[in-house]
Amino acid sequence: MTKIKATNITWHEGHVIRSERETLLNQKGTLIWLTGLSGSGKSTIAFTVEHALVQRGHLAYCLDGDNIRHGLNKNLGFSEEDRQENIRRIGEVGKLYVDTGIVTLTSFISPYRRDRDANRALLEEGEFFEVYVEAPLEVCEQRDPKGLYKKARAGELKGFTGIDDPYEEPLAPELVIHTDRVSPQEASVQIIAMLEANGRIPALEA
Ligand code: ADX
Repeated sequence: MTKIKATNITWHEGHVIRSERETLLNQKGTLIWLTGLSGSGKSTIAFTVEHALVQRGHLAYCLDGDNIRHGLNKNLGFSEEDRQENIRRIGEVGKLYVDTGIVTLTSFISPYRRDRDANRALLEEGEFFEVYVEAPLEVCEQRDPKGLYKKARAGELKGFTGIDDPYEEPLAPELVIHTDRVSPQEASVQIIAMLEANGRIPALEA
């Protein structure tokens, strides 16, 4: 539980309403929450979608786990408590991005269901899309792009997700992408189709 230390604070309402920003951008602020094991392909997919949306004239931005841990969350490790705080902060940052009207992608393992659900609850109905980037552990381990599974198996890295730390699969994600069968480009097409189908971005004219 987050200890609330901020007291005697007042919320100030701005003079611009969100729909004015969304009209400017011709899109609706949206949070696409990618979750999955390390090496499942979250970052690759998120950056592919970000690029495809920007190419199409939309404002999109990816908040990536490894990148955010270089800055904003550099004071957090990988204990259950620190992962929870990592995900809580990104939920709050994501909510700010959504308020600006940006199509926001997040690529964090986010192994705990309750932390992902808490972020869904921060947003309005229809603004949050949970995308399970799924690949069998053996496949992620074989890819091992950062050599971390090898280290974890050798006992040099403790508490690695999927090896000796939990990953709780989503129960009702908006989309599941099986990256052992689907390319990043195809995954990007699926996510963009989901955004169109839900009216977050306009469909392309035929
Ligand atoms: S999360 O669990 O808090 O959501 P996050 O997505 O930010 O994790 O960071 C995961 C990345 O950190 C992995 O892709 C990997 O590169 C690196 N990492 C370092 N130590 C660990 C660990 N113990 N468990 C998982 N990932 C780790």
